[in-house]
Amino acid sequence: RAAPRLEHHSLNIYENIWLLIGLLIQLLLFVGVIASLVSGTSPLLSDNTASHNHLAGVQSGRVDPANLQATAFAKPGLYQLEDGSYQAIVVARAFAFDPPFLKVPAGTPIDFHVTAQDVVHGYYVYGTNINVDLMPGQVSSFRTTFDTPGEYNVICYEYCGIGHHNMLNKIIVEP
Ligand code: CUA
Repeated sequence: RAAPRLEHHSLNIYENIWLLIGLLIQLLLFVGVIASLVSGTSPLLSDNTASHNHLAGVQSGRVDPANLQATAFAKPGLYQLEDGSYQAIVVARAFAFDPPFLKVPAGTPIDFHVTAQDVVHGYYVYGTNINVDLMPGQVSSFRTTFDTPGEYNVICYEYCGIGHHNMLNKIIVEP
């Protein structure tokens, strides 16, 4: 009569383990939801992007890739904001960057906001340490200053299809 009792006992242990795992998963989900809520709404966390990032249709670095026409990405190019800072808006799609070239002033910080419309692309400014992945739905933002006037080639650095190696772009830094 010992065997059935053992079996019953071990069954209880498994039940408890599964119960514990279930509780842990719920706890992790709960923490994740709270964390995402906090990061989406807390002014402390979102401030450093928001202050230089008055991008229409962009929420916490995300954008609807199917509806770029309703966002700041409808008109790619270089813009000077009211506070004098510069914002470069760039869209990558197979197999080109929009705009095809950007003219920027030398020695001035430029806030780049780049996104992909269709598939994953890359934005590598040749000869610099700027190399960002572009994903549909996400805005890749970075600030950089080009100190030396001249021309910089931008290369798509993620394989994106048959035209990948022709996906080039130019940044012209003016004195
Ligand atoms: Cu776009 Cu490779």
